[in-house]
Amino acid sequence: MLSAQITGWGKCLPPAVLSNDDLSTIMDTNDEWIRSRTGINQRHISHVSTSAMAIVAAKHALASAGLEATDLDMILIATASPDTLLPNVAATVQAELGASCAALDINAACSGFLYGVGLATAQIKSGQMQRILIVGAERLSFYINWTLRESAVLFGDGAGAVILEAKETEQASGVISYAMHNDPSGREHLKVGGFGTDMTRYDDEANNFYLQFNGREVFKRAIGGMGKLSKKVMAEAGLSTDDVDLVVPHQANVRIIETLIAKMAVPAEKAFINIENYGNTSAATIPIALCDAVEQGRITPNATLLTCAFGAGLTSAAAVIKWGERTSPINHSDASLPPCQHTGLELIARAVAEQKKRPLE
Ligand code: UT7
Repeated sequence: MLSAQITGWGKCLPPAVLSNDDLSTIMDTNDEWIRSRTGINQRHISHVSTSAMAIVAAKHALASAGLEATDLDMILIATASPDTLLPNVAATVQAELGASCAALDINAACSGFLYGVGLATAQIKSGQMQRILIVGAERLSFYINWTLRESAVLFGDGAGAVILEAKETEQASGVISYAMHNDPSGREHLKVGGFGTDMTRYDDEANNFYLQFNGREVFKRAIGGMGKLSKKVMAEAGLSTDDVDLVVPHQANVRIIETLIAKMAVPAEKAFINIENYGNTSAATIPIALCDAVEQGRITPNATLLTCAFGAGLTSAAAVIKWGERTSPINHSDASLPPCQHTGLELIARAVAEQKKRPLE
């Protein structure tokens, strides 16, 4: 049968790091609160554009799959923080890679990468396409208001990528089942207001957009949304939680993951958690987590993975993925970002100073 198999993976984390202690020097917060309420120790702050991170992750994924960019049929970039709206980020990535294929961006917030996996799987299983690059890439630090401690401590920058390839397999393999959903009743609970063509371009409020959210409401709905779609994809795959080797959930808050896992009666050790190093990188959390899980030997040959995400919209998505035989890259790429001369605190210093001059109502 025709399967859509992950054959390559790669990530890119910008070098500058912002620790919880760094944050406590610019706002009323502390390491203990952030660790215990979110599980986050640090996040990365990018000195380059979203596309620059996406390109590095993509080059690693292509090398890992042993493919050339010219082998690709489509590039999907999941991002809510594009460096340019027109052209889309995918076009910039495509130009740098030297691919000749379709290229588009997906904005489904933190669920964007899994939306990409679903759409790409449909293309592959219909026989339309053979090799698709899916990248989750975010520069969320651009949207952060550093005077709002409840949201500023949560997010980070980064990118992760996979190659999804058509493979003839005897048994179902690769992306076995997937689901995508959106609950628009919650769209006010998580948003970047005042950005886009809604923007008042010529008055004092111009440029005063920032990420706003109702943390408790999103927390509750995240558990419900991911739980529901996880059950759906497992039922479609004919699997119980006992059949799942590893759960790779969206990394928004370690307490969300722990509650979700407990409700699904999955043993805690089956959950992959790396939020401590990166914070919430939105569409990039799952592909970065897949890379880390393979590198750490948590994904073994033919492992059955359950992955699920939740984000603004309020979007949700989930998939059951049967990993292939191979857990090591075919080739390695030496792609990397240009060096950064600044610390994380230095990179956000100008935004912090400007935002302090403009107190929010
Ligand atoms: O991927 C989707 C996007 N992710 C999300 O939307 C995240 C979902 N929500 C969450 O992760 C959690 O709701 C938060 C981490 C945002 C907040 O955790 P919480 O346990 O729900 O805290 P809370 O909002 O109930 O606040 C508890 C206290 C408050 O003080 P009082 O009113 O009890 O005196 C807050 O003002 O903690 C205070 N607080 C902080 N204290 C130190 C809020 N943020 C901070 C902070 N440092 N950074």
